[in-house]
Amino acid sequence: VKAPRRILVRTQDGESYPVVVGRGLIHALPGLLEEHAPAHRYALVGDRRVMELHGGAIRGRLSEMGLQVDAFDFPAGEEHKTLEQWSRLIHALLDAGFGRDACVLALGGGVSGDLAGFVAATYMRGLPVVQLPTSLVAMVDSSVGGKTGVDVPQGKNLVGAFHAPRLVVADPELTGTLPRAERSQGLAEAVKHGAILDSGYLADIESDAAHLLAGDPEPTVRMVARSVEIKAGVVSRDEREGGVREILNFGHTLGHGLEAASDYGLPHGSAVAMGMVLEARLGEELGVTREGTARRLASALQAVELPVEPPAQLDIGRILDHLKVDKKAREGRPRFVLLAETGRVDPPGGGTTSWSRPVSLDRVRNLLSTPWSAAI
Ligand SMILES: NC(=O)c1ccc[n+]([C@@H]2O[C@H](COP(=O)([O-])OP(=O)(O)OC[C@H]3O[C@@H](n4cnc5c(N)ncnc54)[C@H](O)[C@@H]3O)[C@@H](O)[C@H]2O)c1
Ligand SMILES: [Zn+2]
Repeated sequence: VKAPRRILVRTQDGESYPVVVGRGLIHALPGLLEEHAPAHRYALVGDRRVMELHGGAIRGRLSEMGLQVDAFDFPAGEEHKTLEQWSRLIHALLDAGFGRDACVLALGGGVSGDLAGFVAATYMRGLPVVQLPTSLVAMVDSSVGGKTGVDVPQGKNLVGAFHAPRLVVADPELTGTLPRAERSQGLAEAVKHGAILDSGYLADIESDAAHLLAGDPEPTVRMVARSVEIKAGVVSRDEREGGVREILNFGHTLGHGLEAASDYGLPHGSAVAMGMVLEARLGEELGVTREGTARRLASALQAVELPVEPPAQLDIGRILDHLKVDKKAREGRPRFVLLAETGRVDPPGGGTTSWSRPVSLDRVRNLLSTPWSAAI
């Protein structure tokens, strides 16, 4: 067994936490907890599906080593990342007598990480949390960076808190039970990491695509570790949004517009995949992005079985409406992170205060109404 990879993430308050990535690491969890998150009691929180698949073994392992663990679950699915489930979990922990000397273990995909993380952020003004991601989305994206929260009827992730974990343990063997389509969703964010900061990594994802989709552990470990390094590097430079963290939004301005226009029928990773290709085309048209970048991204995305062009039935007017109200828009003009080329983003002004630039809605409308096949 290879030594696990250990990546440090710096937080705003000058502290840092490790993300450890390695095959079979979950068996070493008791020791890792003793070292990084010692507590009198642990609350293992995850969605029912993940808890059924992996909760028992993890709880058993921890109990065997003398740690006291109670399990709490909630129904799987984004539609349960709610204030109702947050409230139910908080009451369950109170009823079970959890005090300030406890620690939350967030087990599952991004929904579990965000919801359990928000429970930890708010319970008795904050308990330590350890993230135990089980989906690729959670391993390469949501478990790193400290954002927690829930959805409300008015929109996704509108209630939440920054709450950095004490430790993140990513064991790619836990993804053995993950459906192939969910792997593609996680690979969308991995492609994004390559697109913004490492073109060699983008090429690796494309050439390893078949193995990554099949869930082969070795390429999966490499991919997760590289993505965590990239995201951790960006987050460490800027734990609280605003500055360089903005580059993680590449593909997301249009991605969010597509999601909204589909009434969230499109999965996030698929929407971001199409968003990245559109934003690369936009950058090429504006002369900011090197020619051929959109093609290159599309080829990597297709290799990991993601769509690269929006479905024709999506209403362009609705996409544009969403862009106008996007929280990053200024005076009705949406802002975009545009690549210089694959693996590189340059701040527009040469300075480092903003990494995105405004683009007129007319130009975006024109982009959306020109099918790509017609554009080449
Ligand atoms: N906090 C952040 O910075 C951040 C970043 C990106 C995404 N997110 C959030 O993450 C969520 C999406 O994450 P997700 O795609 O992991 O969704 P998810 O947590 O709903 O997981 C997707 C599905 O896969 C199942 N699953 C997870 N791990 C499994 C495994 N090992 N085997 C079998 N099934 C498994 C889950 O039960 C669920 O049904 C969204 O709510 C999004 O807002 C947060
Ligand atoms: Zn995303």
